[in-house]
Amino acid sequence: MSVHAEHKPWTVPALAEAKGQGRRLAMLTAYDAGFARVLDRNGIDLVLVGDSLGMVVQGHASTLPVKVADMAYHTAAVARALQQALLVADLPFQADATPERALDASVMLLQAGAQMVKLEGAGPKLGVIGFLAARDIPVCAHLGLTPQSVLKLGGFKVQGREAQAAAQLLADARAVAAAGASLLVLECVPSALAGEITAAVGIPTIGIGAGPHCDGQVLVLHDLLGLDSGHRRPRFVKDFLAEGGSVAGAVRAYAAAVRNGSFPDAAHAYA
Ligand code: KIV
Repeated sequence: MSVHAEHKPWTVPALAEAKGQGRRLAMLTAYDAGFARVLDRNGIDLVLVGDSLGMVVQGHASTLPVKVADMAYHTAAVARALQQALLVADLPFQADATPERALDASVMLLQAGAQMVKLEGAGPKLGVIGFLAARDIPVCAHLGLTPQSVLKLGGFKVQGREAQAAAQLLADARAVAAAGASLLVLECVPSALAGEITAAVGIPTIGIGAGPHCDGQVLVLHDLLGLDSGHRRPRFVKDFLAEGGSVAGAVRAYAAAVRNGSFPDAAHAYA
């Protein structure tokens, strides 16, 4: 079977095929139609309407204040611009607290144009993933640094550095895949552990601060464009506008670097 054809809309099964073929996936966040169009026409395979919008668009200190209605509003705007990229939307804080709440929120997001919903964590979330997947709602799991847990974690920190935490992360990754997730975001995880997880699960992994061995990469658009977020700049962030020369050029440079494996390098990853 050939690699995903250019200009063909991405589907959920095509993501799994890409993993099988070793074709790396380039993902970025977007929150409005204007930027979403640039991403879609310049090589981005997946667009995430992240609840990071609470920080980079709404100006909050965390993602916790984001509401389902906010997510649906931005998802609808982004969806209008996409022709090829697959659209993933975050279930915001506690919208996934029960399977029923998650189903209601997911229906809103899919009816706004999302093709997959993302939720953070394993443990009690495994039942939610299974409940949604059994109802034909594609789910992206998110492990490692889960920003909705910032109060419990005590800050935005690298996860899985100690042996026990690493073993738990690997077990959680296997569990979310077994529960029915179609995609797995790994955030702020040592590169070697992310590589071990990527080899262990059948679903594509998308790294952010998780090193070069993931099946794809994601960045927050504002970080890629070098905008000052008002927060400490994480190590994994790279300003692609500097080398790309324009917004479209930055997006193309990022997509090419993800695909040829030159991003992230060791300077943008955790040991
Ligand atoms: O909300 C978001 O943008 C995310 C990415 C950082 C993966 O979850």
